[in-house]
Parts: sequence; C-alpha cells; structure tokens
Amino acid sequence: MSTLVVTGAQWGDEGKGKVVDVLAAEADMVVRFAGGNNAGHTLVLDDTKLVTHLVPSGCRYPGTGCLLAAGMVIDPFVLREEVETLRSHGLLQGDELKVAYDAHVVMPYHRELDGLREEARARGRFPVGTTRRGIGPAYESKVGRRGVRIRDLFDRDALLARMEADLAVVEPERRALGASAAVDAAALADEVARASAWLEPYACDVGELVDDAVKAGRNVLFEGAQGALLDVDFGTYPFVTSSNTTAGGVCTGVGIGPGAIGEVWGITKAYTTRVGRGPFPTRAEPDAEARIREAGGEYGATTGRPRDCGWLDLPALRYAARINGYTGLCVTKIDVLARIPAPKVCVAYEDGARPGTVPFSQVRPVLADLEGWDAPDLADRVAAARSIESLPAPVRAYLDRIEEAVAVPVVLVSTGADRAQTFRLRDPFVEGR
Ligand code: IMP
Repeated sequence: MSTLVVTGAQWGDEGKGKVVDVLAAEADMVVRFAGGNNAGHTLVLDDTKLVTHLVPSGCRYPGTGCLLAAGMVIDPFVLREEVETLRSHGLLQGDELKVAYDAHVVMPYHRELDGLREEARARGRFPVGTTRRGIGPAYESKVGRRGVRIRDLFDRDALLARMEADLAVVEPERRALGASAAVDAAALADEVARASAWLEPYACDVGELVDDAVKAGRNVLFEGAQGALLDVDFGTYPFVTSSNTTAGGVCTGVGIGPGAIGEVWGITKAYTTRVGRGPFPTRAEPDAEARIREAGGEYGATTGRPRDCGWLDLPALRYAARINGYTGLCVTKIDVLARIPAPKVCVAYEDGARPGTVPFSQVRPVLADLEGWDAPDLADRVAAARSIESLPAPVRAYLDRIEEAVAVPVVLVSTGADRAQTFRLRDPFVEGR
C-alpha cells in the first residue's frame, strides 16, 4: 500500500494546487473525495494558465487516473466545460477520467438557491459568503434523501422522478426568496440528460477502482479541497462548507476503510488567508493585510474575491493536525512572508484558550515577532534557495518553530510559484507505511 492524503490545514487556498501537482507526478491515480466546483486549482501548462474546479490536478499527466469519488457534488455543466477545455489542451485523451455513480449532482436550481439565500442573508443576519456554486443546497438534498446522483443522469425517467422529489422541497423556498417562475422539471430533465450523455462511459464504482489500486500497491493520491477549518463538523461552524474536508472524508467519500490510508500531509501557507465570512483570529492590521494580499496575489481562484490575510495561527494548525492525523506538513508561500515588513506568528491564544474548546470567534491571539526577517535581501535569498539547507537561517528557524508547535515534521517547503522552488524532505509514496 502506498497512499497519500493531502488536505488544506487552514481555510482553503493553501497552495494545494501546486503541491498536489508536483506530487501527482509520482501517482498512478489522483482522487477527489469531497466538495465540488467551490474549489479552484490553477495549473500552469507552458504559458497557459488553466483553473480546474472539479477534475483533480493529476490531469496534467497523461495516463494518471483522475477520479471523482462519491463524496463529491458535481455540476454536470461545469464538468463538461472543464473536460472540454482540458481536452482542447491535449489532456485527458485516454480513459483517465472516472466519475462515481454515487456522487451527487448539483442542479441549476441548487446554484440558484445558493445565490438567493446569500442575497437574503446579506439583507439580514448570517451571510456565510458561499461561493454560490450550489454546494450547500446539493449536500442538503443528499442528506435529505432526495438528491440526484450521477447514476440517475443516464435514465431520463429516473432523473425526472428524483428531481421532482427534490423540487417538492426546494420549490417553496425558491418562491419565498423571490424566484419568479417555477422550475420546469421535465424540460430541465431533458437538458441535464442531454448535457450528461457524454459522461456515461466514465461513470463507475470509483471506490472499487481505488480499492483495487491500493491492494495492488499502486501510488494513490487523495486530493483534498477547501481546508480543515471549513470542515462541516470541525471547522468554524456555521461559516464552513457543507462537507468533511478533513482526512476522515477520504473513507466516507471514496468508500474505503481507514486501513487504506498511509501518509496524511497537511498544507499550510507561511501565513493565513480566509475568504467568505466567519472568525479569523490572526487577521492582520489593514496595512500589513494589504501588503500580504498584493505580495501573495490573494484573490479567489473561483470567485475572484479578495482574501482576508493575516499571520500563521499555530494553535489552529495544531488543531488541524489533530483532526486530520497529519504525518507531515507542507509549508507554502514562504517567499511572500519574506517580503512583508515585521511579520508575526500567533504562538498561543490568551488565557490558554484552545480551538475545539473555545470558539474561534472568542479567542484573542498572542503574537510574536519573527526574528531576523527584517534583513533587506531576505526575500531574494529565499527565492534563490535550491534546498532546504540553503534557506536563510531565520526561515529555517521559523520552520523549526512550526514543527515544534504542531508536533508534526515539515516534509515539503514551497518558496515560489515555480516547480523548482519546491523542496521535499520525505518521499510521499512509501510502500507499506
Ligand atoms: P460553499 O462551499 O460555497 O458553500 O462556501 C462556504 C464557505 O467555504 C465560504 O466561506 C467559502 O468562501 C468557503 N470556501 C468554499 N470553497 C473554498 C475554497 O476552495 N477555498 C477557500 N474557501 C472556500
């Protein structure tokens, strides 16, 4: 067995796209297990930038399986467009793509409802700041036992029956929130079935394929979406997404047992960002926040929204390590932090508060200055480093501090957008671990 789970350790956008892209070079298959097109991974292919929202980052490697597992919610219109784009760039030419029969479908009315709710919430209390991609409503239909699954897309009568069951609940809310006309279920079933017909040869029992691969000792990479603090159970509820973004989501989202999980690596930026609403204890003061945002290009890949920015939150990272069972940490965007004057790190919360015990909205961070980070050429030296040993001493001390606070070894460091600016301290796929 040689499997690796990679999940975001913060509120998403930790640089998973680049790390997974690098690690996927050694994988036989890459599997997404939760979420939908609320995620966005930027792939740089020669001079072209492509953003994928559903297809895992393994898609850049011909022959590497790209699997969308049952725990996902999939918008068939978005998937069709994404696959067409990838194919027009010469990717996914073989049988790499597989989509789980039991994954749920994001319907156009889920997406519409997500937007209507956000607008209503913005006028009143509690906007979550969702990506408006219909993710929450689709998961609600799933757990409400009235959802449409991928397998239903290929049987128009079954599809219509499922949609009618779903719309019986959705329609009154749509109307209450101001939607003008009722959904024409029959016409929509025709449209969705037509748009999904191409998918049928790729639909299968993804869990069985993964199980076979694990048993055969293939390298399987499970690609997380969003981040630990957006997990529906353990994140900053209710400002979370609607799925389990943490490593446990691999078992329930793919349909394999915990014994199949090998390494679990968490990705964290050298600082923190958050998009959408909700508590963010280490958010920086406005000047520093603006500098981080500009230096790090911190705008959403899916929505283009400017991200809130602040300092690395070590107690939160330790919590993320606990709820994921991390065996390794990947630290990204160190070059960006090196360009910020007087950077800080949160070493504890006041009064000994701990995440999981005290809500994130109530904690007050204890910040420490990073020593030696004011050297004028620090950012250049970080960008020029070609090994972890050649990183400037203050940066290595920072990595040591992270390791010590989280009690998980740093296994990968990223110091820039280029693939050459990635240093690994451990092999991701090791037989039998
Ligand atoms: P939803 O997943 O669209 O329902 O949004 C719920 C919350 O998760 C919002 O705060 C979003 O901004 C956040 N979110 C969802 N997907 C991502 C992501 O890929 N990166 C960062 N935040 C995300």
